[in-house]
Amino acid sequence: MQSMTFTDLVGMMIVGAATMRAAFGLISIAGRRYQFHKQEKEYIAQFQNMTSPLFKTCDEKQAGAELLWRGKRKFRLAERVDENQNGDICSFYLMPNDGRPIPPFCAGQHLTFDVPVPGDTEPITRCYSLSGSPTEKDSYCVTVKRIGAPQDAPPGTPPGQSSNYFHDHLEQGSVIEAYAPAGSFCLKDNSETPIILIAGGVGLTPLVSMLKWLDATKSTREIWFFYGVRNRAEHAMYDYLHSIALETPNLHMVVAYSQPTSTCRKNIDYHIEGHLSAALLQPILKARDCEIYLCGPASMMSALTAGLEGLGVARENIRYEAFGPISQTAVARNMEQYSGEPAKSVNVEFSRSGKTLKWSPEDGSLLELALDNGIKARCGCRQGICGTCVTAIKHGDVEYERRPDKKPALGMCLPCIARPQGDLVLDM
Ligand SMILES: Cc1cc2nc3c(=O)[nH]c(=O)nc-3n(C[C@H](O)[C@H](O)[C@H](O)COP(=O)(O)OP(=O)(O)OC[C@H]3O[C@@H](n4cnc5c(N)ncnc54)[C@H](O)[C@@H]3O)c2cc1C
Ligand code: FES
Repeated sequence: MQSMTFTDLVGMMIVGAATMRAAFGLISIAGRRYQFHKQEKEYIAQFQNMTSPLFKTCDEKQAGAELLWRGKRKFRLAERVDENQNGDICSFYLMPNDGRPIPPFCAGQHLTFDVPVPGDTEPITRCYSLSGSPTEKDSYCVTVKRIGAPQDAPPGTPPGQSSNYFHDHLEQGSVIEAYAPAGSFCLKDNSETPIILIAGGVGLTPLVSMLKWLDATKSTREIWFFYGVRNRAEHAMYDYLHSIALETPNLHMVVAYSQPTSTCRKNIDYHIEGHLSAALLQPILKARDCEIYLCGPASMMSALTAGLEGLGVARENIRYEAFGPISQTAVARNMEQYSGEPAKSVNVEFSRSGKTLKWSPEDGSLLELALDNGIKARCGCRQGICGTCVTAIKHGDVEYERRPDKKPALGMCLPCIARPQGDLVLDM
């Protein structure tokens, strides 16, 4: 045997060290993968815990979560993704500007934003549903539809302020302020009951988040996803919805186009021509009890809730979210059993503005009465969930069209969902 030179020895040591390093590297990658999957599992378990049996306390549980923040927090736009052919629906991926972790949310919840108004010192407040999966830990995603002026509006009517701000001013790196995830429109996750998600237009956003959650948790629940939209050009998240429908055996996707064009392909792009209706759901509901989640335009929600009640669906099995003023949806009347006297007329004094107005039921909420009469009032969701409109009651009392998400403090009210019980003085 030949004797080893010093160079051979050094060479062997280098090769040995490199092999050991590679082996350690592989072990460490495997370790990190294991750790990642473990964390992923724990993360999902944490959610299941959070949204399970005590569903009603979901918000309170979240409030206790260490990561939840109070007031506003800055978010930076990481990415924007166009979501339909029309280019008027876009997803915005937002990461916390401070780099610290963000709290989890329940599928169905929303973020509230303070949106700057170009040329104005006061921001406006708007809510946008979280459209991503609750398992995404680094960023939140909201999907915003650009709102134009109503077709019948007089010339010069400005388009939607916040939605156009998102579309026109938010580029990669832009910063926007948001309040923590909130809202009681949450997926009830502790049951095996079949689930029907019904989305109209951009109302698909919270329901897509629910779908992503059901997918991430490998739910075996039977799921129907009904999506109503005008045509292929407006069809949002087309690729995602298409692929999840193909990959998920327990998901039944039904797309209805109300105004299909010659390029829309039946049974590929859509299944039904016309509007979504309760009649479509009848065969499903005949065979089983289902939990129903509904989000879309006022007209669709009113027709569907009335139709579903007609089919005998229990009220507690229908959950809904409206994206606009609740009193305009008629869902309020259908769902909340508003107990107001139908023909009462009372005086409402807005003390700060020095205006006293007559209110009658057709005026809608106190906020609508104020805004329609040129009284400036801050508001966001117009559904009693964001708290932006909170106002002191100086005299009298109010009743609510729907239960506020968070009850205002004694002596305060949320005018966006309140009606006067008699003559009233508001600090507005
Ligand atoms: C819980 C919740 C979740 C939501 N989630 C989403 C979501 O995921 N995606 C989404 O896109 N939206 C969502 N919304 C709706 C969203 O919050 C906004 O209401 C929407 O973007 C419109 O706001 P805007 O500021 O763009 O329009 P606004 O400025 O509020 O204007 C609304 C409309 O009024 C018209 N208008 C303005 N001035 C006048 C005038 N003088 N006369 C007549 N008309 C006028 C505008 O042209 C526009 O058509 C959600 C709402 C809620 C409450
Ligand atoms: S506007 Fe959101 S609670 Fe009234």
